[in-house]
Amino acid sequence: MGLHIGIIMDGNGRWAQARGLVRTQGHREGLKVAKQIVKAASDLKIDFLTLYVFSTENWKRTADEVGFIMGLVRQYLKSEFNFCRENHIRVRHTGDLSRLPTDVAKDIADVCRDTEMFTGMQVILALNYGGRDEIVRAVNRALTGTAGKEIDINETVIADHLDNPDIPDPDLIIRTAGEYRISNFLLWESAYSEYYISEKLWPDWSGADLAEAIENFQKRERRYGGASYLSAPGVSHE
Ligand code: IPE
Ligand code: IPE
Ligand code: MG
Repeated sequence: MGLHIGIIMDGNGRWAQARGLVRTQGHREGLKVAKQIVKAASDLKIDFLTLYVFSTENWKRTADEVGFIMGLVRQYLKSEFNFCRENHIRVRHTGDLSRLPTDVAKDIADVCRDTEMFTGMQVILALNYGGRDEIVRAVNRALTGTAGKEIDINETVIADHLDNPDIPDPDLIIRTAGEYRISNFLLWESAYSEYYISEKLWPDWSGADLAEAIENFQKRERRYGGASYLSAPGVSHE
């Protein structure tokens, strides 16, 4: 379908609290849903799916909650290879690997390498990801790559030094759990992304919700700062 979709998977904690469960149960359920959505997106022939798994700000949570999420990530990374092979899914990462527990960082590097040859959908795991952090790291990479020579920082230089410069900007960014904010997700890349907010909590999401979000997106007119007449043939507004 030629689309890049990003998802801010929010509401795991609220889902658990509403059931009198501990927050971590919400994350466990959230992981199950994430797997279903990856399959649904792959079946819909989405090209790129970026999942916001853990932000650079999520370290503020208790050691228990952070540890539990990292445990789920380990489990997920170790168990998905067959699924990826069957569905031709390539896994990639965005975020700061150097500040993740070393075993998690290694598991991510391994799964990225082991799925590199798969040519179906690419799933980008945003893990220890912050939009501002990515831009700062991009600028630093640009500056250190010049061997002391002065360079001008411009938009192309920054875009070329992001974590995955070959991946197109997201077309659609979905956020669940009814929050109307970006929470440091893909700040640079989302300049002209369309937004879709779902009131449902992430553990209540399903493939049907994804299909509905895409259908809604397809009715939008993207103007990129231009105007409708630019795409209406034969109409002159000189
Ligand atoms: C999203 O669910 C998962 C992560 C941020 C890791 P939350 O844990 O933020 O759930 P709420 O927002 O507290 O309900
Ligand atoms: C954004 O959700 C991060 C992820 C979904 C991984 P948060 O729950 O951390 O965002 P805020 O705190 O509500 O802005
Ligand atoms: Mg939240």
